[in-house]
Amino acid sequence: VMGTTWGQLSEQLIAQAREKRIPLIGQFELTTRCNLQCKMCFVCQCANDKLSLRKERTAKEWIRLAEEARNAGMLYLLLTGGEVFLRKDFREIYEEISKMGLIIEIYTNATLITLEKAKWLSSIPPSKVEVTLYGSSSDTYSKVCGSPDAFNKTLMGIDALLDEGINVKLRTTIIKDNIKDFDDMEKIAASRGLQLGIVNYISPRRDKKNSSPIDERLMPKDLVKFEAHANGYINLDGTLKIKKQHNKNNTTIAVIEDIKSKVNNQCFRCEASISSFWVTWDGRMTCCSLMDEPSTSPLKGGFSNAWLELGAKCKSIPSCIECNKCDYREFCMTCPARLKNETGQYDKPAVYLCESAKARKQIIDLVVR
Ligand SMILES: C[S@@+](CC[C@H](N)C(=O)[O-])C[C@H]1O[C@@H](n2cnc3c(N)ncnc32)[C@H](O)[C@@H]1O
Ligand code: SF4
Ligand code: SF4
Ligand code: SF4
Repeated sequence: VMGTTWGQLSEQLIAQAREKRIPLIGQFELTTRCNLQCKMCFVCQCANDKLSLRKERTAKEWIRLAEEARNAGMLYLLLTGGEVFLRKDFREIYEEISKMGLIIEIYTNATLITLEKAKWLSSIPPSKVEVTLYGSSSDTYSKVCGSPDAFNKTLMGIDALLDEGINVKLRTTIIKDNIKDFDDMEKIAASRGLQLGIVNYISPRRDKKNSSPIDERLMPKDLVKFEAHANGYINLDGTLKIKKQHNKNNTTIAVIEDIKSKVNNQCFRCEASISSFWVTWDGRMTCCSLMDEPSTSPLKGGFSNAWLELGAKCKSIPSCIECNKCDYREFCMTCPARLKNETGQYDKPAVYLCESAKARKQIIDLVVR
């Protein structure tokens, strides 16, 4: 239809999928193994982890699953990990799946993307490759990802993708050890004409293997200060540098409004389990990346049964009564997955989220009023 942008069309599709509970958006976690070992990672296993290698699903299984999901209504598919390029059969998986008429995105750390791989990808390009940047120096990559070489490899990977005309987006995941690199990371992005997105919530590990993500993430006050900095409100030392007219198209405000518009009595304010699903490395269907439970088995009883069953199981997830009536909710990232990972319960307020929400409201009051 004339006058409808892709963004609008996509929103309409999602709204319809939501209403009819169609699994429009799929996310496949092809592996949790990774060549890097970021200290805050919520899923990573070693590159040669034996259990993973034994329990990961085969290329054939992923391809069949994609086909079944597409037949059930999936249009968008994210391929992520771990590091997908670590799988020896990624080429086979991607080539088959890319023939299915889906809108495919890939998340990667880009360190394994050679010129040859970028060329191959560009012959059947995904709609987007989203690369996470973890710092602006070898030193920071060494601290955050355990690999000094990874910094240059990441840049080489990004540039190889760009040279091949692939649509690239950058993002960064900020923790104590790389926050000082943020401005330089923005420069790395800007010099390539790219935007830098931000992952501003660090979740505890999904398998509770260690408490590393919690130890490494910013304290609530620092997190919110950083958000304001990233949006042009304040300097990293906390001094204000705002201009009122800055607020109009400001992303912090946009994020808050986005949260606001989705506040309702429903437990999930996102698409998880409503029009979107996640499939873990070992082949279980869950609501989203952060949730290990509830889960169903699409490889055993078929995709559609697993999707129906997931819906039924998710209906019984309790919503948090305190969050529902909380004055800070519109400033808060509360959701069932985060509450569960933070507190062990779906319906118990989490200190980290509460403190962040309060600090966020304070800063926004300061800037907006
Ligand atoms: C797990 S990685 C997988 C894809 C790829 N290896 C990468 O690094 O982009 C997906 C995204 O999750 C982010 N991430 C890592 N640890 C996280 C955590 N504890 N909480 C939230 N996001 C996290 C990563 O920075 C990355 O942007
Ligand atoms: S590169 Fe991605 S998957 Fe690998 S350890 Fe880092 S965040 Fe985790
Ligand atoms: S983490 Fe929370 S908001 Fe994000 S997809 Fe999962 S349930 Fe939804
Ligand atoms: S997590 Fe805390 S601040 Fe956030 S909505 Fe729930 S009670 Fe309110």
